[in-house]
Amino acid sequence: MSRAEIFEMGPRDGLQNEKRRIPAAEKIALVDLLSRAGFRRIEVTSFVSPKWVPQLADAAEVMAGITRAPGISYAVLTPNMKGYEGARAARADEVAIFASASEGFSRANLNAGIAESLERFAPVVAAARADGIPVRGYVSVVTDCPYDGPTPPANVARVAAALRDLGCYEISLGDTIGQGRPETVDAMLSAVLQELPPERLAGHFHDTAGRALANVDASLARGLRVFDAAVGGLGGCPYAPGAKGNVATEAVAAHLAARGYQTGLDPAVIDSAAMMARAMRAGGE
Ligand code: HMG
Ligand code: MG
Repeated sequence: MSRAEIFEMGPRDGLQNEKRRIPAAEKIALVDLLSRAGFRRIEVTSFVSPKWVPQLADAAEVMAGITRAPGISYAVLTPNMKGYEGARAARADEVAIFASASEGFSRANLNAGIAESLERFAPVVAAARADGIPVRGYVSVVTDCPYDGPTPPANVARVAAALRDLGCYEISLGDTIGQGRPETVDAMLSAVLQELPPERLAGHFHDTAGRALANVDASLARGLRVFDAAVGGLGGCPYAPGAKGNVATEAVAAHLAARGYQTGLDPAVIDSAAMMARAMRAGGE
């Protein structure tokens, strides 16, 4: 069987959009359960402005409260140096910077255009490299933007190349609002693969339109083997109107298995975590 990896996003991309203020203890319990599932990487939280994303204002508390399992990289989002300092103090194993393929989404999500956001990320990557902390990069709205419309594939390739040039070890390509189709994902990948090999790319699909698994297939066909997903299909993005959940980890794991890819995940633990995630969401309704 071939290998494929799921990078668990639930605690970060999942919980950043929940209306209910979820206690840190519940987030810690979710991460600790996920640590038993077989993931190599788990995105735990974000060191972003609490005014922008109040849901993750407890980032330091959550990072301090989790029980780290050996061999797992506990990742956090860092939009600027202030966020990086928080991540370093919290002993994050890796950090992620997040750029946009469209100007409209960049302004809504980071209060800066694409070029300015990349300028802000440069010192973050330099500091992380000096500290020996790997940096992952995201490109958002890779097929469709809620503000600017369809995203030209060349723009995604340009931003992905810029993140590579800054020093990101892997670039995750985000269909932030879940409007991508296998055809648009394929066209986007065709452009990005001119800049980066598939081993350095990941697919990050939201399932708003129910096409995430088809988009996983389009990515597999282009050689990608890493997919971001969230247990229980948690998720959304506060600055992406209409972004529903990330594609569910349990759905991607089953889908990959049916196509002959082993993820190394324990289905029983994933199911318990999905139940916990759904209960967290239901608690707010
Ligand atoms: P800004 O308002 O322009 O920032 O926001 P600023 O530098 O002018 O600072 C304003 C205030 O925020 C100051 O506090 C700063 O100290 C504070 P005040 O003096 O007013 O009390 N501040 C911070 N506090 C804590 N941590 C920080 C930080 N930075 C500044 N790191 C900023 C600019 C980038 C900070 C803001 O826009 C922000 O935090 N944005 C993050 C938004 C976000 O997290 N979005 C969701 C993640 S992206 C996503 O979900 C997509 C993804 O899943 C992939 C996909 O689906 O496509 C990754
Ligand atoms: Mg996302």
